[in-house]
Amino acid sequence: MAVLNVLEYPNPALREAASEVIEFGNELKKLVADMWETMYLSKGVGLAAPQVGRALRLFVADWEGNRRVIINPMIIEAEGAERVDEGCLSFPGIYEEVTRPTKIRIVYRDENGERHDETAEGYLARIFSHETDHLNGRLLIDNLSALKRAFIRKKMSKKSRER
Ligand code: NI
Repeated sequence: MAVLNVLEYPNPALREAASEVIEFGNELKKLVADMWETMYLSKGVGLAAPQVGRALRLFVADWEGNRRVIINPMIIEAEGAERVDEGCLSFPGIYEEVTRPTKIRIVYRDENGERHDETAEGYLARIFSHETDHLNGRLLIDNLSALKRAFIRKKMSKKSRER
């Protein structure tokens, strides 16, 4: 396994729409293993492939013992709305309240290509929603007010220039 480099905003790769995973072979399994290692090392609860520079519709998530590899997801139902603080490994140190559904139904495949149809609630639903956004090039910052967005953009751009 290897630890991958997590891309930070405003890296343009985070804005790309990811492609469907077609091959469920060893290469995919290696990427998933590397993503787990990277996510745990970063102390994250979710990590999407575009965040490690791979434009694939794939994410991993681990929340309170619910450990998932989610590939080619489709959120087919969503209900409720709740504002809760959330962070993102591509925005280190930033936590902002974001409104998300409280319950979602998601259809996806796992790393073996097996199909799942799952209903998730609470923070797990939030993670699934946040990570699915990544696959569409949508980021935490897009869910915030214009003022907060401008503030974070400035802060992250300054940080990226300093590196
Ligand atoms: Ni994120």
